[in-house]
Amino acid sequence: DKDYNQAILEAPEDLFYRFPLSLVHGVPLMKPIANNWEKIENFLARPDDLLIATYPKAGTTWMQEIVDFIIHDGDLDQANCAPTYVRSPFLEISSPPPIPSGVDVLETTPSPRMIKTHLQYKLVPKSFWEKNCKVIYVARNPKDIAVSYYFFDLMKQTQPDPGTWEEMWTILGWGSWFDHVINWWEAKDKHQILYMFYEDMKEDPKREIYKVMKYLGKKLPGEVVEKICQHTTFKAMKENPMTNYSSMPSAVMDHSISPFIRKGEVADWKNHFTEKQSKRFDAEYEKRMEGTDLKFRCTI
Ligand code: A3P
Repeated sequence: DKDYNQAILEAPEDLFYRFPLSLVHGVPLMKPIANNWEKIENFLARPDDLLIATYPKAGTTWMQEIVDFIIHDGDLDQANCAPTYVRSPFLEISSPPPIPSGVDVLETTPSPRMIKTHLQYKLVPKSFWEKNCKVIYVARNPKDIAVSYYFFDLMKQTQPDPGTWEEMWTILGWGSWFDHVINWWEAKDKHQILYMFYEDMKEDPKREIYKVMKYLGKKLPGEVVEKICQHTTFKAMKENPMTNYSSMPSAVMDHSISPFIRKGEVADWKNHFTEKQSKRFDAEYEKRMEGTDLKFRCTI
């Protein structure tokens, strides 16, 4: 784990700069991920792996932190021992050498592993299903995702340049949000998948933490749950160097452009979408969500 962090810190600044997207089974992924695809596809899951799957900007880091606390009985020392991205490696992340890929890091990570992925359901390595691994999926309303993704693309120097807010409405890394949320939703009855919503977590974090605990078969005293709530609030995570990605060098994440833990609100899209954009999006939403019983609080 330390090697990964160290390699990032020591890498030349231009190593990470704005990777283009490349199609993998029809899904646009950053070029280094596409180049490493064979290794990712053949990743060997272990039965006690826990996968945290999301479309980018859905609240991945928040869920990673909650789960890490639950697994370790609210142990603060464990949570503070390393940044989130080290404690819970990112399956498909790949950079040019000498940075180890997520798969490389995970091969030497002791069990039980907590693994982050943004992969579309159809791209998840088959071994996760063969080993019947547990998955927690977090979904978030698409308009807030769009805003959050825009600011992320501006600050994350490995992501393709988003251009203007209007231009950004084209092709995004990890592909269609609609395919992502719908296909994972349909998969939830075939595998062990807990499907969560960011808006529910905002509405009542404690209730949602209990939901995750139940799914993981964990019972914790009330005061530990209270502690988990306190340490995973937006404010606590924004200020915590272990969760706010401030340990990433600015050649990878430039927090002066936009902080990683940015606003953490429901319906921030109202500050960014024009009425025309909102209507255009709603029409697309109606069309693409037809026939699914998956519902989002899109317009709140
Ligand atoms: P915003 O850009 O809307 O603020 P991910 O971890 O999937 O990349 O998601 C990042 C989004 O989750 C950001 O959204 C970030 O601020 C928000 N987030 C992170 N931690 C949070 C928390 N504890 N509570 C609420 N939102 C949080």
